[in-house]
Amino acid sequence: MSGATVPTPVAPSYVLTVNGTEHGVDASWLGESLLHVLRERLGLPGSKAGCEQGECGSCSVLVDGDLVCACLVLAAAAVGTEITTVEGLADERGTFTDVQQAFVDAGAVQCGFCTPGLVVAVHDLLDRVPEPTDLEVREALSGNLCRCTGYGRVVAAVEAAVAVRTSGGAP
Ligand code: FES
Ligand code: FES
Repeated sequence: MSGATVPTPVAPSYVLTVNGTEHGVDASWLGESLLHVLRERLGLPGSKAGCEQGECGSCSVLVDGDLVCACLVLAAAAVGTEITTVEGLADERGTFTDVQQAFVDAGAVQCGFCTPGLVVAVHDLLDRVPEPTDLEVREALSGNLCRCTGYGRVVAAVEAAVAVRTSGGAP
């Protein structure tokens, strides 16, 4: 082989719609994950980089309303979709969502690394299933690994958020 170098494929500029705002992404490597672009290019560090192999759920986001691991989605493939990260769940004042508040109240946050992914997953669950059974809660969270809480307090937080919503509290 000669010493010729192989050029790195570079994507043309593209636009991602994240939390209702359009963001231009320039000179991106074609293989960049959505997680990488969110964190490193768009300054949205809420989605955490854990395993980066689809195993831990810490990078969970919504793409067109579907819960996905952002580490497994090519950023360029998300053009034309509506992406929601944990930063986009709160209102414009940035106050906690009911789910976030329930996590705090239940002591379901310790180191907090898994928390953004869990919060996105719980919002997704409660939007689809307003009153989930314990099995449905555990199944919905089975893709989110936590090394600290042991899940009991996480499940308690989900139950508390459901109780608030079903008693007429703000969603
Ligand atoms: S960082 Fe994406 S699933 Fe672990
Ligand atoms: S609170 Fe530490 S990993 Fe879940």
